[in-house]
Amino acid sequence: MDKFYSIYLISLLAFTCLCQVCSSSCPVLECWFMLDKAGGGGGLTGAPKQEKSLFYVQRDAHSHRAESQRAPPDINPERIYSVSDPAATLCHDSLNPPRGSVEKPQCEINSFVPQAATLKWTEPLTESAISPVYLQADWLSVSYLGLHSQLGGATILRAPTGSKDTNVALSVSSKTLSVTSRLGEPVLLDCGFWADPSSPLSGTGFAVEWRYQFRGSGRLVLAYDGKTDRVTETREGEATLDFEALQQKGNASLILREAEVQHSGTYICTVYLPYLLAQVAVELEIIEPPSLSLQPSPLALAVPGQTLSVQCEASGFAPLSLDLSWEFQGADGKRRSLGSGGMTGHRQAWDGTYSQSSRLELHTSQLDLGRGGELICVALHPGGTARASVSLSVIGFTSPSIEDSMAMVGVALVLYGLIKVVWWSLSSSGSADADKQEKKDK
Ligand SMILES: *[C@@H]1O[C@H](CO)[C@@H](O)[C@H](O)[C@H]1NC(C)=O
Repeated sequence: MDKFYSIYLISLLAFTCLCQVCSSSCPVLECWFMLDKAGGGGGLTGAPKQEKSLFYVQRDAHSHRAESQRAPPDINPERIYSVSDPAATLCHDSLNPPRGSVEKPQCEINSFVPQAATLKWTEPLTESAISPVYLQADWLSVSYLGLHSQLGGATILRAPTGSKDTNVALSVSSKTLSVTSRLGEPVLLDCGFWADPSSPLSGTGFAVEWRYQFRGSGRLVLAYDGKTDRVTETREGEATLDFEALQQKGNASLILREAEVQHSGTYICTVYLPYLLAQVAVELEIIEPPSLSLQPSPLALAVPGQTLSVQCEASGFAPLSLDLSWEFQGADGKRRSLGSGGMTGHRQAWDGTYSQSSRLELHTSQLDLGRGGELICVALHPGGTARASVSLSVIGFTSPSIEDSMAMVGVALVLYGLIKVVWWSLSSSGSADADKQEKKDK
């Protein structure tokens, strides 16, 4: 028993060590250095607007890998940097693809100018002007997107003027760059940040802001001033943060209490330190599949030659991207497409969900429906495929079923009865006439 336990423990230990080794491999990031638009002469000079650059990322500041590496010939030595990233945000696997991999993480560098904050919730941060010496440095802003969008974010780097050895001053990242949710569910939009604790800018407070953007218009969702511990919300109760996790671990994830159709859009998480800011954008899409109803249900019995009209209504779905079609499944189990029918325009309900219908005119004579089967309405939607069916019976088909035979016997009996009644009334009126005739004769 003990032996098994120790083997288990050792393998667990080995596994943990291995994982630490693999997660600690920090990448050499290949980034596009975006040259100042102001200095580019408006782009008329034909000078390159971006330049390839390399960022040797490591956890600690002491190893100088950048200098020990030989610069690749296609990269300007001026554009080779070393980055010390104690929080190892940039050491995520998705930024470090295996050698020779075709797909590469995306990365863009811009020069950054520290600025005093002007927003209501960030003003307290720069109330006491500090560290002019610290601010006088080379500042860079790195935006990146890992493979398969597993990680995205922005990092503010600081290097003493003229140096290529940079330190991460502020880093904001998200592991949920693209989120989908059903209606009415709580949604978590991940955003985390790290600020260099040795920098004079940290320790004096931070602020977090979540903004929503959709088709060019935007609004504030929530802002938190970490210095005075105050929250500004635009819609009471719509969203919140885990304030404890925010203060202790830099977890600025936005929690939407209940997903609504109107929540679909882009959410931008911005973290402010005095004079610095970094942000990451997260996409949210609310996807709700349709529910289907068929009218009329059940269907009336069809007689060959009759035209049946059936309607399929899809409701409660979002986004507005729906394809309705019809199928017929005969008694033999074979499915046949009946096309898409006549689609109606869409309507939007109070909760933002949509509804749309399709009407099928089924000409029973034009199709070989046999004895009948299932009439199926198929809805294709990003939230999934929905189906609804109604059974269709055809009477008077060449090889009648027992029910059809019974129906025919019934019809025959009724007909027989009718004929009988008619014959009887005719004959009785005939005999009455005869009676009259007899009376006249007398
Ligand atoms: C951040 O906080 C949220 C809400 O408490 C939690 O669900 C999430 O896992 C946290 N993220 C990290 C990276 O700790």
